Amino acid sequence: MYCTRKVNDDYTWVGADGRRLAMFEGVFDVPNGISFNSYLLRDEKTVLFDTSDAAVRRTFRENLLHALEGRSLDYVVVHHMEPDHTAELEELVLRFPEVQIYCSAMAKTMMTQFFGPGFQERIHVVKEGDTLCTGRHTLRFIAAPMVHWPEVLMTYDETDRLLLTADAFGCFGALNGRLFADEVDFDRDYLDEARRYYTNIVGKYGSQVQAVLKKAAELDIAMLLPLHGFVWRKELGYLLHKYDLWSRYEPEERGVLIAYASVYGNTENAANILACRLSERGVRVQMFDTSVTPTSYILSAAFRYSHLVFAATTYNAGVFITMEELLHDIAAHDLQNRRVVLLENGSWAPASGKGMQKILQPLKGWQQMEDTFTIRSALREDQTMQLERLAATLAADVQAAAPAEEKPEGQHRYVCKVCGYVYEGDSLPEDYKCPLCGAGAEYFKQES
Ligand code: FEO
Repeated sequence: MYCTRKVNDDYTWVGADGRRLAMFEGVFDVPNGISFNSYLLRDEKTVLFDTSDAAVRRTFRENLLHALEGRSLDYVVVHHMEPDHTAELEELVLRFPEVQIYCSAMAKTMMTQFFGPGFQERIHVVKEGDTLCTGRHTLRFIAAPMVHWPEVLMTYDETDRLLLTADAFGCFGALNGRLFADEVDFDRDYLDEARRYYTNIVGKYGSQVQAVLKKAAELDIAMLLPLHGFVWRKELGYLLHKYDLWSRYEPEERGVLIAYASVYGNTENAANILACRLSERGVRVQMFDTSVTPTSYILSAAFRYSHLVFAATTYNAGVFITMEELLHDIAAHDLQNRRVVLLENGSWAPASGKGMQKILQPLKGWQQMEDTFTIRSALREDQTMQLERLAATLAADVQAAAPAEEKPEGQHRYVCKVCGYVYEGDSLPEDYKCPLCGAGAEYFKQES
């Protein structure tokens, strides 16, 4: 039995959906499953790009054998050594004794660490710019270190203009038979999970993602083929633009995330009042109880919004456990450039405000608005007015135009209508092409 899908004439998706994982990578819940993508190129040579996770090995094997149609496997390209993509390497070597493996130098080292020295003679180390001809197709290797492991490679198929992107451009969620992003309402149904995937797994490595985006901008790309989630064959600029924002730590929206940690509901009450006052002023608010919502969702929302409110009760002379975990996770991901409001609660010695400041202080471009708002046990009647004033200040800041950069006289902004990329200059050259999505000058709109 098999459940493959054709990517194009020569490429076939031979991956598998996993829907029974309690936790992906032992830490991220995936209530809607996750796909482990693997692609087979059938040319004069057969090439498999990555294998699968142990959890879905049976489906992967059936799909691969079906797509090979009795041919042997000549090459395996290992883009990434994490075991959710390499669990079947040993099996492949046993099943196809002649198979040759292409990977980066660091992947070769890791392969020995994971599997012992048995693979050495079949490994071919490749580096940035090396090519492999498989018949009709020429594959060019692109180094993508720290997106999100150091050994990561991508492959650009020069013949079909496909970019196999390793973990980049991935998404949580099983494919459920839909291989291409244009087969679903991605923006409505999957963007949140793509953001949660990016921010938690790759989010710390913004500068490395920027480096890869620059390399991608030099390529003529027809499709993006990630190791999780959908293949992109239309409107690539949509996702490239999101990656550009996320990796520059730019918020997607001016709005407020309110995350609170409350033991008996009094801190929650203050957070609720603040949310009401902000909403009355037309500010978009998203709230999370840190004791209920897993950290990965809140971290993702912190990348999304421009302003963050953290409200926490004091616990063991510090920050309540679930809030402390969230803030450490945000700090570990190096989120930058956010405006923050802190609320603390404590019945005899409020200390969570200072504790939260200490965790967030090293982060680049963070600014605390107003002094920490202190509650003693429960909000006093007279404090509702203070909370009202805090909401007014916060709302005004959210609704103020994003801080404009100094622009020299005569400079104009031209915005790409496809992906949102901004070109600044005295005029847009007629032959200009968007470095993110490749759209021509006719797709740019002058904004100022
Ligand atoms: Fe999907 Fe980093 O492995």
